[in-house]
Amino acid sequence: MGYLMENYTRYDVYFEKGEGVYLYDNKGNKYIDMLAGIAVNTLGYAHPKLTDAICSQAKKLIHVSNLFKIKPQEEVAEILVKNSLENGKVFFCNSGAEANETAIKLVRKYFYDKGNPEKYEIITFTGGFHGRTIGSLTATAQPKYHEGFKPLLQGIKYAEFNNVESLKKAVSENTAAIMFEIVQGEGGVNPINEEFLNEIIKISKRNDILIVIDEVQTGIGRTGKLFAYQHFNFEPDIITLAKGLAGGVPVGAVVAKEEVAKAFTPGTHGSTFGGNYLSMTAAKVVLNEILKPNFLNEVYEKGLYLKENLKKIGLKAKGIGLMVGADLPEEINAKEVAKKCLENGLIIGTAGKNTLRFVPPLIINKNEIDEALNILEKVLGG
Ligand SMILES: Cc1ncc(COP(=O)(O)O)c(C=O)c1O
Repeated sequence: MGYLMENYTRYDVYFEKGEGVYLYDNKGNKYIDMLAGIAVNTLGYAHPKLTDAICSQAKKLIHVSNLFKIKPQEEVAEILVKNSLENGKVFFCNSGAEANETAIKLVRKYFYDKGNPEKYEIITFTGGFHGRTIGSLTATAQPKYHEGFKPLLQGIKYAEFNNVESLKKAVSENTAAIMFEIVQGEGGVNPINEEFLNEIIKISKRNDILIVIDEVQTGIGRTGKLFAYQHFNFEPDIITLAKGLAGGVPVGAVVAKEEVAKAFTPGTHGSTFGGNYLSMTAAKVVLNEILKPNFLNEVYEKGLYLKENLKKIGLKAKGIGLMVGADLPEEINAKEVAKKCLENGLIIGTAGKNTLRFVPPLIINKNEIDEALNILEKVLGG
């Protein structure tokens, strides 16, 4: 009998330490990690710069609250804005769900301030995933996550992902925002169609609708650009972030265009831990490493290499950069494959109906990709 709630299905493994892309358990077994704490450990394990920065910051200050100015918070906000939305502003919180919750509130407040409080509907797409709080859960258009938690939040409408007609049907004069992932992560590593994206942009412009991109999983270099929307030629109004931003220290963030961001005036929103010294020190190191020349190009290249080699072992690969999925035929169970891989020293994820998910630390090299795929091939073959 354990003392923890039973809301997770856990593997029977205790990890004790990590280095680079490798994890070690308490029995001395070594694993190569293609999951990175579910797209979190951007710089892998025990990265010297990240570890040193966190340790020396912890010796000085961990937390003071947002009643005071926090230098590293201002610095991280500057890096994020200079690399995303012109004149953007940033709010820091602690998780992806909290970032999306913040975005929902910001959208509502923006139109309320414009004298149009009826314009509060947000459209999200089937297969999307936005978190587990009531607001972000409602935005997650997957009935299996809703079971038992109704009533959900008012004002969220669903349309089918990559289906223009379905989107058009969902739009009304009260549509305030369209919120989506550029590559659906939990939903099965499904990239958005460019045609569909262009339609979203057109509809939004025509109807004064905000575009919210959930970059919680795709952001911070995962797809080979700092943000996945940057593979396309447009600027969203709001971006939500979390996961990889602080390399494993809990953090969330919302970047919004200035005109939208100004809806948050003192007292309208907040988060005690948001953007504290510890997480911001970590985020600064992560961003500085990722923005070094060629780092992002290499992520993109390594993603192509991973996809090519998945094809060579007979798997149909999809995704962008180091966010890759491989759908398995129905007769092979992805969760069973992931379990066998673990027993053979390889950590991989699953997503959607029956998809293997690869979201390794961004510092992985091609030899390490080979090593991982050799184990996978052996597991699939045996
Ligand atoms: C796209 C996306 N949004 C939001 C979330 C929720 O993030 P968190 O678990 O940090 O609340 C996730 C988590 O998997 C995600 O992939």
